[in-house]
Amino acid sequence: MSIDTKVDQLRARLLGKTGETASAARRVKLLPEHYDIAQFPEMRDFATMRWYYDNQRLPWQMYRQHLGVASAEVNVEGRDMLNFSSYNYLDLSHDPRVKNAAKHAIDMYGTSTGSGRIVRGEIPLFEEFEQELADTLGVEAAVMGVSGWGVNAGVIGYLARGQDLILYDELVHNSMLTGAKISGARRLAFAHNDYDALERLLREHRGSYERALILTEGVFSMDGDIPDVPRLIDIKRRHHALLMVDEAHSMGVIGPRGLGVVDYFDIDPRDIDVHFSTLSKSFATIGAYVAGSKELVTMLKYYAPGIGLYIASPNPANAAAALAALRIMRDEPQRARSVIGIADYFRQRAQDAGLDIGPSHDSGIVPIMMPDSETALWMSGRLFDAGVFAFPMIFPVVPRNAERLRFFLSAAHTKEQVDRTIALLAQLKANAPKPKGLI
Ligand SMILES: Cc1ncc(COP(=O)(O)O)c(C=O)c1O
Repeated sequence: MSIDTKVDQLRARLLGKTGETASAARRVKLLPEHYDIAQFPEMRDFATMRWYYDNQRLPWQMYRQHLGVASAEVNVEGRDMLNFSSYNYLDLSHDPRVKNAAKHAIDMYGTSTGSGRIVRGEIPLFEEFEQELADTLGVEAAVMGVSGWGVNAGVIGYLARGQDLILYDELVHNSMLTGAKISGARRLAFAHNDYDALERLLREHRGSYERALILTEGVFSMDGDIPDVPRLIDIKRRHHALLMVDEAHSMGVIGPRGLGVVDYFDIDPRDIDVHFSTLSKSFATIGAYVAGSKELVTMLKYYAPGIGLYIASPNPANAAAALAALRIMRDEPQRARSVIGIADYFRQRAQDAGLDIGPSHDSGIVPIMMPDSETALWMSGRLFDAGVFAFPMIFPVVPRNAERLRFFLSAAHTKEQVDRTIALLAQLKANAPKPKGLI
């Protein structure tokens, strides 16, 4: 008997199909949708969505090109619009200091280092950013990488293994979920900000696994709310778990100095094991960092795919922009206070107008909850026609029956712009057609 047949028989037995070979048990009827991309179900979904937009005469908003910078206003295909869809919180993406730092880095090092950091791609800018960031956060060390999504997935995928446990808030970002999947660890979700549920899961399962990693965000990206980080620290301590906080929407924005959850809660930064943030929001560029203990950073730099290994270095201009933005963030905390000030104003005006802002508080993100997908698309389309860009969030990005328009507030927005937008929202809400059940 060949080794292949033996393996097949063994597999078949495990599948409970004795007598059949495993390949027969797994045989599927091949259809065009399995090998012709044009017939993949995703393409049918896309065609339905395009049809819906055309049928309802809604402006197609995805991949719309803008000209110039994206600040509180943005020029979309030649038309100046009010912009609530950029996460340029501190309005630094067009700050002359940030732009000049990036230009200077290109003059010094070119547009690419031409290698991974571990081999030949290291330049002083990376370490300068990492050291200043670690000092700012009050931790020992930091490492920067090339993409928020990729670093999040890479770190979690590396830190947890098959014999480990990952417990995550059900609303964490896709990049964290992907990292959890890559890791092969047992994954358990707890209801959003439900710490009793987290404790229950830990009590029941902690004992069966080696490492346990708890994942949350500093500000939740769809809801604009903030988890109880001190409570999470208490829980992780008692259960000997590690805590990782994704500060994509909190770093640079929340806390008296705008320095994220540590600043907001006035906690010891060493109590969070893994500090993460993308650089695409308050840092006005692209890339990410992970910060924490020296040992964490050494491990990631020398062993983690997607951070230290199998990946090119960030480019010099990104690092220089991040460093310039970090210095401004530290020196000008009034920018963070402006974001929260205008977002608080938006929240108050929205509630006065009878709009539902969900659980949003103390952050730069405000959802305006919608009763269904069709109303969300209609409201967003009519806002677009009126010169206001606010993106609709519908399933699968948010759960069904939790559709919303999401507003990002920045240091550049004015009260007058908020007033205009809230008046429009209230007027549209009063005139929204009944959903037709088409999508
Ligand atoms: C909470 C959160 N984490 C991670 C990311 C990924 O960052 P990036 O888009 O910079 O890759 C995002 C991006 O939107 C995010 O909102």
